[in-house]
Amino acid sequence: MSDFHSKVAIVTGASAGIGRATARLLASSGAAVVIADIDSTGGESAVAEIRTAGGQAAFLHTDVGVTDAIHACVEHTVATYGRLDYIVNNAYWSARGSIEELSEADWDRSMDVMLKAIYLFGKFGFPAMRAVGGGAMVNISSVHGLAAYRQYAVYAAAKAGLINLTRAMALDAGNHNIRVNAVCPGWIITEKDTPHADALTITRGIYAVGRPGVPDDIAKVVRFLLSDDAGFVTGHALVADGGLTAQLPDAASWAALNAFRSTASE
Ligand SMILES: NC(=O)c1ccc[n+]([C@@H]2O[C@H](COP(=O)([O-])OP(=O)(O)OC[C@H]3O[C@@H](n4cnc5c(N)ncnc54)[C@H](O)[C@@H]3O)[C@@H](O)[C@H]2O)c1
Repeated sequence: MSDFHSKVAIVTGASAGIGRATARLLASSGAAVVIADIDSTGGESAVAEIRTAGGQAAFLHTDVGVTDAIHACVEHTVATYGRLDYIVNNAYWSARGSIEELSEADWDRSMDVMLKAIYLFGKFGFPAMRAVGGGAMVNISSVHGLAAYRQYAVYAAAKAGLINLTRAMALDAGNHNIRVNAVCPGWIITEKDTPHADALTITRGIYAVGRPGVPDDIAKVVRFLLSDDAGFVTGHALVADGGLTAQLPDAASWAALNAFRSTASE
């Protein structure tokens, strides 16, 4: 396994879910991790969890929908740990609804958090990576970036845009030894899903591997893409969905999933 000791990573949206699992895994692999999130309580508890396990981490309140906050996050990371090697763009907020239902403000906020933030983390972060000879970025897209789903118009637009933004950033940054990749997870059961006992049963029916995804499934893929083992991988969108998009829809499973999602919290 690649060594992450003496490396420094920013993981956005790492107070919970996939981001938290990724921060934990990178820290246990040796990296110092900055948890950049708007949820201070979750962020501080993630830091405590990592430090208790012997890792290095710091929480930085960062609203990735705000340009100055992203700039400050990069500057603070370099000031705290002396360098920046990796950025994982994972933070998530999205309005739901069809195009007619979505307000312009919700569209803008969703795009700022899920798409513009990635451009800004490249703009401010790549110079810091160049200063230490290179680095890597992983952007968390979704299977919603590959195909659309009712009531998720802005999410679909942001996650699809993110895949091609990843390619464009990979091309522009490649000569500076900076790799940029995306991950497209299927539905991953996170803390926010666990109160719904039906979630596990329903997802089993739509995953080729016979089980739903968990945050560590994605964290391991992110770690691989950041690592030197992926040194010849860039501009790629890696689908990590347990085979969800490998099959044509099974009507009964999708009906159950739709019924569940209409009641599940996001
Ligand atoms: N969970 C899934 O099923 C799934 C599937 C495919 C893709 N994804 C993607 O994976 C990523 C993580 O998803 P998750 O389910 O773990 O999310 P989550 O809702 O559990 O966590 C999202 C984190 O982002 C933080 N956040 C929200 N707005 C922010 C902002 N403006 N600035 C900084 N942080 C902010 C939240 O506080 C939270 O800690 C997202 O990009 C999501 O689109 C998730």
